[in-house]
Amino acid sequence: MKSFLVLVIGFLICGAVSAQNHPDWVKSAVFYQIYPSSFQDSNGDGIGDLKGIMSRLDYIQSIGINTIWLNPVFKSAFKDGGYDVIDFYQVDQRFGTNTELIQLAEEVHKRGMHIVLDLVAGHSSNESPWFKQSMLADKNLQYSDYYIWAPNKPNDLSEQEASRWVEANAPRAKYFIKNFYDIQPALNYGYANPNPNHPWEQSVDAPGPRAVRRELQNIITFWLEKGIDGFRVDLAASLVKNDPDKKATIALWKELNGWFDQKFPQGVLIAEWFNPKQSIEAGFDIDFLRPGKLTSAYERGKKTDAKVYFTKAGEGDIVDWKQYFTDQYSNTINKGYLSLPTGNHDSPRIASEGREDAAQLKVLLTFLLTQPGVPFIYYGDEIGMKYIQNSPDVEGSKNRSGTRTPMQWDGSENAGFSTAQKANLYIPLDPDANRPNVAKQESDPNSQLNYVRNLLKLRSTTEALGNDGDWTFLSDEKQAYPMVYMRQKGNGKYVIAINPTDRAVEAKIKTLQANHVNNIYGTSKNGTYKIGKEQDTIKLPAVSAVIFKVE
Ligand code: NOJ
Ligand code: CA
Repeated sequence: MKSFLVLVIGFLICGAVSAQNHPDWVKSAVFYQIYPSSFQDSNGDGIGDLKGIMSRLDYIQSIGINTIWLNPVFKSAFKDGGYDVIDFYQVDQRFGTNTELIQLAEEVHKRGMHIVLDLVAGHSSNESPWFKQSMLADKNLQYSDYYIWAPNKPNDLSEQEASRWVEANAPRAKYFIKNFYDIQPALNYGYANPNPNHPWEQSVDAPGPRAVRRELQNIITFWLEKGIDGFRVDLAASLVKNDPDKKATIALWKELNGWFDQKFPQGVLIAEWFNPKQSIEAGFDIDFLRPGKLTSAYERGKKTDAKVYFTKAGEGDIVDWKQYFTDQYSNTINKGYLSLPTGNHDSPRIASEGREDAAQLKVLLTFLLTQPGVPFIYYGDEIGMKYIQNSPDVEGSKNRSGTRTPMQWDGSENAGFSTAQKANLYIPLDPDANRPNVAKQESDPNSQLNYVRNLLKLRSTTEALGNDGDWTFLSDEKQAYPMVYMRQKGNGKYVIAINPTDRAVEAKIKTLQANHVNNIYGTSKNGTYKIGKEQDTIKLPAVSAVIFKVE
């Protein structure tokens, strides 16, 4: 009896866990991604920090957001914006202290919100003490096998494999394997099918790879026990090498996620995998989708001749998207969550590629924020911050700096981001005198910010539009504009129609046999839904998006 009571009380205190091992709070989670160096500087050094983030929590919550994801805040050499970690157990001094991070988590929790960090699982900085030790000639030291060292480079490597070999000429060996930049040596999780002629290819169960897994568990435990609610896992799909079908990587994560669910039932792990079919099977709670040519003609930084869907010209198509989305959705439904983020620190912002006015962005945001799964808003996308072409390369950002410019809070010289000299800001601000800012949009009921707020309010109070609401594509995908889909849960039924183009459009769909259909939210009162005997007709004016309630 006593233990039963303990169980019940424990359950009440800790909250529930659903059958699929996701904490209940994920069902209504809406994330805000913060690039910490660029959000709010509190001490005038021109670089954002934890105290700065703390001072903006009320704003974040006011948007309708309840969970924050911070890009890496750990001690780093900053040659890849913090994704080159020197010490996974310590906050970098530019951001503050471990104590301040714990205080931030407490402040977040006081507001009923959650906070997750970035786990750079695949590699460390070459300045990490682990790597420095593994370079030594003695191969029997604690960190000797945390990395992959090879005496010679085979000449039958594929181009992609070969690009990962870095010549180091260390006492230990000539080469090591990297993940991204040369300063990011890959941690050794082993090889899916070790080649006996390649002694550096250890099996996933060899002592080195096992020790690295334990280290990962230690890092997770260290921060979760301090009040952090989980991690987004960088490059989660790439841990085991030479694993083309990802079987060994999935097995590794199944083990880790099983351990995590037991130990931290209220925690979340989010994969940066870009293939939810695999990552959800591997036990992750959430994984991202790539919007592809829905929003961008760029692929891996290179312009393609793809016709983008969300443009006024309206020359895009939706066939590939529908197939991709349906495939991912149907294979993960009731198991884990998809996320189609508004953006991230690696890709151009939604306000780019000719899509810079608020009317167009509202249409796109209506689409993004009415998807099933967990919404992620990249800081500044709620006010329409632009991708800034030709921003200088800062700390390995290359052209990603255009997406990492300082948050625009108000109309002052540094936009309220910092009191530093303009020249000392982490990355220069959007130079446009009319750049959007929070203060201006707060006071305008028709601003993009308030549009997003009201949309998130509707989402959070309407189960069918929420993370677990079902999704069905309704329009003919061969007629790309408008795109029409339905969200549904219990008795709630909503049809969403999206028209990015500069012309009025019409769709006919199989009748939903409704009694009433009302235009309840969107960018235009003039979007109409006419009920027919066999077909219903939806008409939308140029550049508009409408949510219809179906009864
Ligand atoms: C993906 C991260 O999002 C990106 O910013 C980073 O450069 C690479 N992984 C390497 O860690
Ligand atoms: Ca600072």
